[in-house]
Amino acid sequence: MRTLQEIPELRKVLGEYRQRGLRIGLVPTMGNLHAGHLALVETARRHADVVVATIFVNPLQFGAGEDLDAYPRTLAADQAQLEATGCDLLFAPTVTTLYPHGMDNLSQVRVPVVSEGLCGGSRPGHFDGVATVVSLLFHLVQPDIACFGEKDYQQLAVIRKLVADLHFPIEIIGVPIVRAADGLALSSRNGYLSADERAAAPQLQRILTTLRHAIEAGEPVATALESGLKQLGAAGFEPDYLELRAADLGPVTATTREAVLLAAVRLGTTRLIDNLILTLPR
Ligand code: PAF
Repeated sequence: MRTLQEIPELRKVLGEYRQRGLRIGLVPTMGNLHAGHLALVETARRHADVVVATIFVNPLQFGAGEDLDAYPRTLAADQAQLEATGCDLLFAPTVTTLYPHGMDNLSQVRVPVVSEGLCGGSRPGHFDGVATVVSLLFHLVQPDIACFGEKDYQQLAVIRKLVADLHFPIEIIGVPIVRAADGLALSSRNGYLSADERAAAPQLQRILTTLRHAIEAGEPVATALESGLKQLGAAGFEPDYLELRAADLGPVTATTREAVLLAAVRLGTTRLIDNLILTLPR
């Protein structure tokens, strides 16, 4: 696997791939890779001839007071994992390479409505930063397919709308959440948890699972969510949101069948998100 940091070199290698008629799969990441990221690489492998991963901790998607400086940077370990998973090329640019004119007056991409509420409500500007860097990477790499995790459910919905609205000729593939044996959704931010917090964290998925069963069995959604918030509080989480939305993140209506239960919580200083897909009763 080659690692490149500069745009001209990246374009050269990608040009060679294209000349050879190879289908390019893109896996954008912020590094500190875990089995969830590797599942994205494995999925890309199945849908493309060459896999290009990117590692870039994107300052644009972090708000003031968020964990930009603390975000783990583990390039050597990430390279070894990508190589072992069959990634062909890693693009790991610096901030100056991607944003040579700075970030203050940068042209930005905004994806309305689907970016609002949920994580967009508590992290203003976050999805503008994501949509901007993902658009930039799509322009640079021009992949045929790109893989994103379903753990960041709202991000995936934002990217699907971005691709549809801006006519990117890229197939977006959502990859199911990878969980630890105890049910905790894998996340680079799990590394921030103390031993006690790590032991408590799987309660998030257990509470969501209980709620899913209750809602699928016909319990009124408002009652289930109210009880869910109480259960989250009792388990030591500080809930940011707990919502049931239609699978496309629109509101649940009388005809909605495919829905998603989404939660964001704080455990100590760590923000955790998770979601479960469910089928509403008729
Ligand atoms: O999901 C992530 O790791 C990031 O939001 C992404 C898509 C790589 C954009 O920086």
